Amino acid sequence: MDDLSTIRSEALDAVGKAADLAALDAARVAALGKKGTVTGLMKTLGGMAPEQRKEFGARVNQLKGEIETEIEARKSLLGNAALSARLAAEKIDISLPARPETQGTLHPIGQVMDEVAAIFGEMGFTWAEGPDIEDDWHNFSALNIPPDHPARQMQDTFYLPSRADGTPMVLRTHTSPVQARTMLNKDVQKMLADGGALRIIVPGRTFRIDNDATHTPMFHQVEGLVIDRTTHMGHLKGCLVDFCRAFFEVDDLPLRFRPSYFPFTEPSAEVDIGCSWKGGELKIGAGESWLEILGSGMVHPNVIANCGLDPAVYQGFAFGMGIDRIAMLKYGIPDLRSFFESDLRWLRHYGFSALEGAAR
Ligand code: PHE
Repeated sequence: MDDLSTIRSEALDAVGKAADLAALDAARVAALGKKGTVTGLMKTLGGMAPEQRKEFGARVNQLKGEIETEIEARKSLLGNAALSARLAAEKIDISLPARPETQGTLHPIGQVMDEVAAIFGEMGFTWAEGPDIEDDWHNFSALNIPPDHPARQMQDTFYLPSRADGTPMVLRTHTSPVQARTMLNKDVQKMLADGGALRIIVPGRTFRIDNDATHTPMFHQVEGLVIDRTTHMGHLKGCLVDFCRAFFEVDDLPLRFRPSYFPFTEPSAEVDIGCSWKGGELKIGAGESWLEILGSGMVHPNVIANCGLDPAVYQGFAFGMGIDRIAMLKYGIPDLRSFFESDLRWLRHYGFSALEGAAR
């Protein structure tokens, strides 16, 4: 009797103390294995009187069941603990806290494109784009620039190898080819035929062989184009006056429209804004000086015809200005080349916060 309770408490104690699955198995073998203590008790049954054997046998069986249950319970506990320990050990921290010094800034060119788009957006213009690598026809011929025009000279333009079909290719020298691409679009032509008006701005990259403090081989322009049946030079003037005053945030900013020449507009005008220089510092607004900021004019009838529209029916205006240039003027950036040097100190100084600098 005593024997049984000692064996029971020893076996359960060993199971309860087993720290891992190997120790638990050792405890199982010690009690229930071939030479185990409980198995030993079973062996004594043979020499007992039938009555005693029945009674003692039942108790030994019960003990065996009890130990087996405890072993199973301990096994699942140890199994869970082993899994948890593995999970804890294998955990990797995939989070990276956002620190203020890792926040970037918006480049002044992107910022100014957004500001320009917001102002023209309020006037009903939509944003259009075209390829940087342009064919000779869209960049020149469609825009009434004949093959012998000086703008085609090798010195002015980055020519690329011709396409397989012989089409000469260039890095576009202005955003004006997107005028042609848009007017040629069948959906646009249908919209115009239905009495609608075309109003687009085309912000994008442009390329010329130039390199000094105010010219870089790659720069940015924004083109504007309005085509319908009634738009005239008065609309061109009003649109550009409103734009310049909104962009430079000077309500009475004077503008000067100077007669000029572009092959794709007639009449053509270059536009200057008023400014003054005090102590070598530029101030935009009414003053003794003028700054040229854009080219403009009424779209030439030849361009309208080249783009598959009837110049007797359709007319409108176009303009083009340098985004980098108006960014330099508005934000007092002295050297154009610094825009493209990716100097982090410069970007932090002239860059805009993505949240605070949002377009109007
Ligand atoms: N494409 C001209 C340039 O690059 C600008 C311009 C556009 C002038 C549209 C008139 C009309 O200089």
